[in-house]
Amino acid sequence: MTDAVDWAGLHDVAVEASKHAYVPYSKFPVGVAAVVDDGRVISGANVENASYGLTLCAECSLVSALHMSGGGKLVAFVCVDGNGDALMPCGRCRQLLFEHSAEGMLLATVSGIRTIDEVIPDAFGPRTLAAYRGED
Ligand code: THU
Repeated sequence: MTDAVDWAGLHDVAVEASKHAYVPYSKFPVGVAAVVDDGRVISGANVENASYGLTLCAECSLVSALHMSGGGKLVAFVCVDGNGDALMPCGRCRQLLFEHSAEGMLLATVSGIRTIDEVIPDAFGPRTLAAYRGED
């Protein structure tokens, strides 16, 4: 599966996305890009707010883009800073990505290609709720 992903192309899309970041406060642009399970490529950038805690991470805009462009599950993901260097998604965003991940989703991280289960082990998620309700 790693071989099938155009990581260089996805990196380029993430770099381009970072140029659309709205970061007047941190001056720390973040760009993300992902491949969806139907082959679509989507992207996002961080959007800050004068009320700092309301900042939207780049992953938030990616998830919005996912649903606004037809939904589906994420199979591969890249996150970069304003220098184009790999950036580890924050904890909250790992949870966000997990919710929308395909089984075995891959992420290009600061320590190489990792699976979603490696970056958020034993995650709380939709299946936890389904199991509690006896739905699985
Ligand atoms: N940021 C992201 O967009 N994604 C992450 O996973 C880490 C942090 C943004 C939020 C804020 O605009 C800036 O980076 C500095 O924290």
